[in-house]
Amino acid sequence: MSRKPIIAGNWKMNKNVQEAMAFVEEVKGQLPSEEVVESVIGASAVLLNGVKFQASGSALKVAAQNCYFEDAGAFTGETSPKVLADLGADYVIIGHSERRDYFHETDEDINKKAHAIFRNGLTPIICCGESLETYEAGKAVEFVGAQVSAALKGLTAEQVAASVIAYEPIWAIGTGKSATKDDAQTMCKAVRDVVVADFGQEVADKVRVQYGGSVNPANIAEYMACPDVDGALVGGASLEPASFLELLAAVK
Ligand code: 13P
Repeated sequence: MSRKPIIAGNWKMNKNVQEAMAFVEEVKGQLPSEEVVESVIGASAVLLNGVKFQASGSALKVAAQNCYFEDAGAFTGETSPKVLADLGADYVIIGHSERRDYFHETDEDINKKAHAIFRNGLTPIICCGESLETYEAGKAVEFVGAQVSAALKGLTAEQVAASVIAYEPIWAIGTGKSATKDDAQTMCKAVRDVVVADFGQEVADKVRVQYGGSVNPANIAEYMACPDVDGALVGGASLEPASFLELLAAVK
């Protein structure tokens, strides 16, 4: 089963308007073919419209980093998935550990967001991942499996097949302490096994699973060589155009 690799930069709450526009202007003519790899930038909500506009005509796809699970209404400060679709976003990252930890998002919220994203014709990049404590207790597979199962609840087989799931161990995020390729493979396979159990083999063969956590141009190739790793979700190393392009170039 061949799945198209997907490399997504997650800028988090970095870059101002000018920096974001300059980045897109620099990379957009140098992206690898869409036939080889999907290139995605996840920008903060206030930058998305500009990034999308600046990227027009190029292979660069755009991801939001969060959205609300209602389309419109009295929800001050929230980002509508309907408006994200309207402005031409492709993906929405949901369930990032920073959102779970700092903003108290629950598995149930994340599941509602996944439904809202599909309802609006967008695709979720659903994050999961365990803490160091859980990892050291040998409970990562169980913990991450429960997160994935909860996030996908009630979605159709077709929706799950189209989803991207990003396994990001919390202890590897922004620490420079990346997971070994064996750990990444084991956990990405565990994620796929949950999809097999909940939705069947055919769906699991289609869903794309990314590894994230201190991925950089020097280590990405070893993750991409793992059979169950279909891409990467990258924070720090996606902030500079040259580094982002190197990450993409590592996908063969
Ligand atoms: P780093 O690549 O900076 O470790 O961040 C990973 C991440 O959280 C991407 O969503």
